[in-house]
Amino acid sequence: MFKKLPSTSPTITLKQVQLEKKIWAVAGGKGGTGKTMITSNLGVGLAILGYKVILIDGDLGGADLHLSFGMPVPKRNLNDFLAGRVSSLHDVLLPTQNANLSLICGGSELIGLANLPYQRKEKLKRHINQLDADFILVDLGAGTAYNTLDFFVISNEGFIICNPEPQAKIDAYSFVKNAVYRRFLQTFARNTLLKDLIINFGNNGQRALKIRDLVNRIGDAVPDYGDKAQEIVDTFRPKLIMNKVRKKRQLEDADRFCYLVREYLSVHMQYLGHIEYDEGVVDACEKMRPFLLDQPTSKVSLNIYNTLFNMGIQDRQLRYDRKTYKKMAKGVKLESKLWKE
Ligand SMILES: Nc1ncnc2c1ncn2[C@@H]1O[C@H](COP(=O)(O)OP(=O)(O)OP(=O)(O)O)[C@@H](O)[C@H]1O
Ligand SMILES: [Mg+2]
Repeated sequence: MFKKLPSTSPTITLKQVQLEKKIWAVAGGKGGTGKTMITSNLGVGLAILGYKVILIDGDLGGADLHLSFGMPVPKRNLNDFLAGRVSSLHDVLLPTQNANLSLICGGSELIGLANLPYQRKEKLKRHINQLDADFILVDLGAGTAYNTLDFFVISNEGFIICNPEPQAKIDAYSFVKNAVYRRFLQTFARNTLLKDLIINFGNNGQRALKIRDLVNRIGDAVPDYGDKAQEIVDTFRPKLIMNKVRKKRQLEDADRFCYLVREYLSVHMQYLGHIEYDEGVVDACEKMRPFLLDQPTSKVSLNIYNTLFNMGIQDRQLRYDRKTYKKMAKGVKLESKLWKE
């Protein structure tokens, strides 16, 4: 419905996808915007397009990705790895009905994991990088905890899932801003002058100040680092998905939101597309089934296929493409029969 999705040029070519593993992080700031729903359905979509996919529940404080795949209590989970009960992240992989798609579910028994110590976080990142997959999608929790920001910052592609409500937009804006600060701190914190400068700038409540002012101040304080700071904002290109869209004008709000992020945070956020609001999504959640498999021809499913093609993903067998994305519904319908057996 509404308008055609933006005709973005593909950011990933097939050649790149085949050669390089991609880590996609899905965040959003506010709770309940649809991060888990979108992670699970993008994952199912990529698997049907022929890619080897691993979904990781990176919501260390409120893991629930397993529920989208009909698993009330996963047999193994990330905490088995984080607590050292298994030595490799590979050991906690769980299969799904699609051989291309595996899960690393979250657990709930370890309190305090939301603040992973540095060493454990580094080990986890190392093991994620060693996983055998074309795509690794990390479903992140709400908020701006360091773990969440760090996973977002190390990913190849970061998705911001927002909703039309002002609260969701404010939290998404704040998430992008904090991700920029986190990148600055990770790069410059060894220099105490810059560390103080960045922290004070962030804490000062100087709302009118823009990130470009901070970049200038970094350059003024340590001229060699000015270009580096600029490069950090230039190379940070999160993708926005507006979920739960009910009205046409809410799409214009999405464009305006991207403009504000560019203007105040100097971050070029790409608007990837929208996903409509549909009660059927809640029904699929209740059935603990990925929405695509439940209603492959619905508008929400078409929005998800479109999002994938807008990311420049190509079907490995070249059956569907950006122009004929609606055809994909037939393939997903066949797949959904396999999942019922
Ligand atoms: N497009 C949509 N239309 C209708 N309902 C939706 C849509 N997307 C998500 N929902 C519903 O919104 C609720 C929250 O979705 P989800 O759990 O994916 O959000 P989340 O961002 O992962 O939340 P949390 O921050 O708690 O992890 C669920 O009940 C889901 O079914
Ligand atoms: Mg979630």
